Amino acid sequence: MYVISVDPARCQGHARCVVFAPDVFDIDDEGYSFVQPERGTCAQLSEDVQLAIANCPERAISATDDDSKLE
Ligand code: F3S
Repeated sequence: MYVISVDPARCQGHARCVVFAPDVFDIDDEGYSFVQPERGTCAQLSEDVQLAIANCPERAISATDDDSKLE
């Protein structure tokens, strides 16, 4: 299970994540990205999310394999 998150300290509001994966990311009132409720975990990373991660100029998006936390 992957956990998708946006680092608020890195996000600068470029909004490319919303362009590539509008079902997962949204922009708050301040112009910064957040992961939409109940969209922050997935069994496999969709191509949309992978594109969002790859195209964020600030490298603010991460997808952590939750299984690695079970060690
Ligand atoms: Fe922020 Fe990167 Fe999206 S800077 S708004 S997470 S493209």
